Amino acid sequence: MNEKIQEAFNKQLNAETYSAYLYLSMSAYFEATSLRGFANWMRVQAQEELLHAMKFYTFLNERGGRVVLTAIESPPTEWQSPLDAFKNAYAHEQKVTAMINGLVDLAIEERDHAANAFLQWFVTEQVEEESSADAVIQQLKLAGEGGGLFMIDRELAARVFTMPTTPAQG
Ligand code: FEO
Repeated sequence: MNEKIQEAFNKQLNAETYSAYLYLSMSAYFEATSLRGFANWMRVQAQEELLHAMKFYTFLNERGGRVVLTAIESPPTEWQSPLDAFKNAYAHEQKVTAMINGLVDLAIEERDHAANAFLQWFVTEQVEEESSADAVIQQLKLAGEGGGLFMIDRELAARVFTMPTTPAQG
């Protein structure tokens, strides 16, 4: 496997695992503030991030690359408010989108068509990732504090994690 792609994909594997850590930390924050619906949404998000990480893990192995797991940075543990946490999530997803776009650029540069094809799933996924975080931000801005917040909490409690048939699928 192309060395540069291997290194960049291992970096992304780490970044996706960090994303899971970040959202699990947000989930713990919401648990601590008794917003169980928000906590549920973030927990599902964390599970999805682990699947993203596993996609890179599987692809690296399938291409005969070497997976190298590295230390995961500690995520923040506190936020000022639910809006603050979701703004953080949205900004984080924008960062991840830029990373994915960078990987696509690299795959094109290195003429690695398989890597490019693999990455297209993530290009589409990032549109959804940014949009779902932004949707909650907009709801929170409309609702303000109090009753509106608890209505959103009830709504976010409904999000469920669906396990794909194989870990490589999202
Ligand atoms: Fe794996 Fe939220 O991007």
